[in-house]
Amino acid sequence: MSELNKIALKMISNGKGILAADESNATMTKRLEAVNINSTTENRLFFRETLFSSESMKEYIGGVILYDETIRQKTNSGKSIPDLISSSGAVPGIKVDTGAKVLANSNEEKITEGLDGLRERLKEYYNLGARFTKWRGVYIISEKYPSILAIRSNAQALARYAALVQENNMVPIVEPELLMDGDHSVKVCLSKTSEVIKKCFEELVLHKVDLSGIILKPNMILPGKQSKEKISSEEVSQKTIECLKNSVPTEVPGIAFLSGGQTEIEATENLNLINQNNNTSFLMTFSFGRALQQNALKVWSKNSNDIKAIQNTFNHRAKMCSLAALGKWSKEIENK
Ligand code: 13P
Repeated sequence: MSELNKIALKMISNGKGILAADESNATMTKRLEAVNINSTTENRLFFRETLFSSESMKEYIGGVILYDETIRQKTNSGKSIPDLISSSGAVPGIKVDTGAKVLANSNEEKITEGLDGLRERLKEYYNLGARFTKWRGVYIISEKYPSILAIRSNAQALARYAALVQENNMVPIVEPELLMDGDHSVKVCLSKTSEVIKKCFEELVLHKVDLSGIILKPNMILPGKQSKEKISSEEVSQKTIECLKNSVPTEVPGIAFLSGGQTEIEATENLNLINQNNNTSFLMTFSFGRALQQNALKVWSKNSNDIKAIQNTFNHRAKMCSLAALGKWSKEIENK
């Protein structure tokens, strides 16, 4: 088993999943302002340190994705944030893309940037303690999108990124996210997501990426947010499994879903059924941002600095997500 494969498995086995706490300062500011909290360096550190020191980190969280600001910060007691994460048994990771910019000649679509100087930045992040990384390609769904231009250019960037990350002994999370926005049907989401993922793997193979040492982070297969189509979690799970079965090579050890704007309960319920119906060789777990942190943020805004209350909320959510990663979650356990 390769070193990279071992790290990937440590992050996502036995009901463990990934906490995506890598919101850029701009995104974190939006999240904090939505609950009337000032987005200062200290506040961002306070919230993240509170989550990373909670009890559930040991049992349910296998990896934490950090943002550049956070990986350089220290706790109250002087420990580095990556050391705090490692001390709970989780693997520290880092978002290394520099964001999605308008793709030239495709007015509405985006291309993710950050390849220039990446080799050097990766060496620095490794020295700061990171052992895995994340890069997110983002795609919109409509009749004409994603265009072949967006599909190819983002797949190539993801593959160049993944190859550089493995060269530097870290596990790349490969994240092609088709957004939930739009009125498309679940069928369209299925076909477009499959096309995007297949193209990503074509490029990953071309760039000689070791597929046993990556984690795929896709969206679940859902109807668009503005679509009138209502489908059950059972159908979401079947369509999601169908998509991955047909587009992901079996060497890939695991898949960690983004939550993408689903509520905490929706994301948990869907992941639970995906695991109950999982007839693939892939581990299927969570790499949630909002669906792990939303309620904890709300509790913070109501109880100012009550660390215990924030942690209790986060502990519950992490436990529910972990049960879902094992296919053992239920509404009864959720509400107990
Ligand atoms: P959400 O779970 O909030 O979609 O965030 C996951 C993520 O890391 C997006 O890049």
